[in-house]
Amino acid sequence: MPGSKVVAFLGSPRPRGNTDTLAEAVLEGARSAGCATESFALRALRIHPCTGCDNCGRRGHLCIFRDDGETLYRAMIGADVLLFVTPVYWYGPTAIMKAFLDRLVVFNTPEARPLVRGKAAGLVAAWEEKGSEAAEPMVKLFEMGFRYLELRPAGNLLVDGAGPKDAVRGMSGVLDRARAFGAALG
Ligand SMILES: Cc1cc2nc3c(=O)[nH]c(=O)nc-3n(C[C@H](O)[C@H](O)[C@H](O)COP(=O)(O)O)c2cc1C
Repeated sequence: MPGSKVVAFLGSPRPRGNTDTLAEAVLEGARSAGCATESFALRALRIHPCTGCDNCGRRGHLCIFRDDGETLYRAMIGADVLLFVTPVYWYGPTAIMKAFLDRLVVFNTPEARPLVRGKAAGLVAAWEEKGSEAAEPMVKLFEMGFRYLELRPAGNLLVDGAGPKDAVRGMSGVLDRARAFGAALG
């Protein structure tokens, strides 16, 4: 919907690599459809790993770790569309993306779940191997995670065969596909 807010969480440790480039094109497409956009590079943020302390929501804070997670929670709550952007690392997301995902356990309380319930969510991913198999465990992880958090699947943009840092820039039609994916979010 025009006027929607699309927020991307960039999970690559490699600045200006393939997934950053894809996310940039997706957000460009979203803006062309009238969306507001924002992105957060997780590599630049302090996100303490979840310790399973069971203190979610205590004393008026979603999480006891008062780090950059708070900024990310606020961004999620203010968004209409959430984009999780990550390369495949060992058939899963990167460690920084996984640390962020673990911290989303705060939305597991009856008080906090309505803060995210019903938002649209999508995955943007790239990896080196040819074909879809290398990304299948990760695609499943996000699919189940979205369902668990009661997010609405907004579709995925998946690019295989992208190893070197600039690979997606040289792949015919990929950035157009990314822009179209973004425009369809609006
Ligand atoms: C630690 C590490 C693990 C990786 N694991 C896989 C993998 O399991 N399968 C695969 O196809 N590519 C794998 N790759 C390649 C990346 O997915 C690929 O280079 C991707 O384009 C990186 O995205 P970026 O440029 O946004 O960082 C791995 C790369 C690294 C550095």
